[in-house]
Amino acid sequence: MIRVIIFTVFIYFVSVQGKCFKRLEINGKCLCTCEPPFNTSVNLTVSTEKALMMCSLKCSQASNCVAYNFFRNFKQCQLFDRKLTKFSFIPGCVYYYEKVEPRNRTLRFSVDNVLVQFYVNGKNISVSDNFQNVSVWEKAKTYNLPDQLYNIAIKSYNDGNVGGLIARSLDDYVLTDRTWKCIKEANDDWYKIDFNDSSWPAAVNEIEKKHGNYFSKEDAANANWIYFLNGCNNTDCKVDFYCRKSFIGTFLELNM
Ligand SMILES: *[C@@H]1O[C@H](CO)[C@@H](O)[C@H](O)[C@H]1NC(C)=O
Ligand SMILES: *[C@@H]1O[C@H](CO)[C@@H](O)[C@H](O)[C@H]1NC(C)=O
Ligand SMILES: *[C@@H]1O[C@H](CO)[C@@H](O)[C@H](O)[C@H]1NC(C)=O
Ligand SMILES: *[C@@H]1O[C@H](CO)[C@@H](O)[C@H](O)[C@H]1NC(C)=O
Ligand SMILES: *[C@@H]1O[C@H](CO)[C@@H](O)[C@H](O)[C@H]1NC(C)=O
Ligand SMILES: *[C@@H]1O[C@H](CO)[C@@H](O)[C@H](O)[C@H]1NC(C)=O
Ligand SMILES: *[C@@H]1O[C@H](CO)[C@@H](O)[C@H](O)[C@H]1NC(C)=O
Repeated sequence: MIRVIIFTVFIYFVSVQGKCFKRLEINGKCLCTCEPPFNTSVNLTVSTEKALMMCSLKCSQASNCVAYNFFRNFKQCQLFDRKLTKFSFIPGCVYYYEKVEPRNRTLRFSVDNVLVQFYVNGKNISVSDNFQNVSVWEKAKTYNLPDQLYNIAIKSYNDGNVGGLIARSLDDYVLTDRTWKCIKEANDDWYKIDFNDSSWPAAVNEIEKKHGNYFSKEDAANANWIYFLNGCNNTDCKVDFYCRKSFIGTFLELNM
């Protein structure tokens, strides 16, 4: 009964403050950030649920707070004032971030030559069910992205000569450039959200590649054709290649 009342108060407060939080969860596992918070507090005199509620309230009330970690075992509350980029699976710890507004963001992209596999947030999006002209590189493909975007991973096949990937959302949130990573051979987990891609090289911008009619210069704007190398070198011309981009940052200590 007490919990029900507390929960009601919590909902009321959160709506008054206009902040709503969502827990970061991947494959049923909660993640936390290991970066330094701007405020840490512990309240051992209250229940775990109340401590969590108070943590949420603290973040709602602090104008600079955008996210918090809550350690259930220690009733510890950590507040963050910036976009975080490093996460781990830490037992008993849950990370909450301010829920994003619906964005209705459409990705427009093209691969040279064949779109083979397409993943968003680690989810395998069926190429045959979702795209047409998958082996016609002159035809741009579109896909409606989820509001909360964690990662994009695309496997393509280059059937000779210079290959590549170009992708952009109208708001430029997604934009192929050297912050993407491309490689010729990838291991089994390459498309996953929590895949450690720090050993992958930065994508190469293929500045000499023409946009063509299918993806006009206006459409492309600041997006670049990217590939794992610049140009084409015999065996590098007819190959599968893998490109990925993480929008939430890197994951640490994954084996728990
Ligand atoms: C954390 O925030 C509380 C108020 O919620 C404040 O009393 C305390 O001084 C802050 N601690 C630090 C280290 O800023
Ligand atoms: C812990 O929570 C109780 C109940 O809200 C409050 O009275 C007390 O001051 C809090 N202690 C600390 C250290 O924040
Ligand atoms: C999303 O955007 C597209 C074009 O930008 C528009 O046609 C569509 O109606 C929008 N959908 C929603 C749910 O707003
Ligand atoms: C994703 O789906 C495609 C087509 O069904 C399949 O070939 C591919 O192996 C799948 N990827 C993974 C990682 O299961
Ligand atoms: C693209 O796909 C559509 C629908 O499947 C088809 O009618 C069209 O002929 C294709 N275009 C090319 C160039 O293959
Ligand atoms: C092609 O291979 C040669 C020899 O390995 C190398 O020197 C050259 O830089 C390569 N060119 C491209 C475009 O990768
Ligand atoms: C991620 O990969 C890099 C390079 O391979 C390595 O140095 C780093 O320790 C890895 N991080 C984790 C948490 O596995």
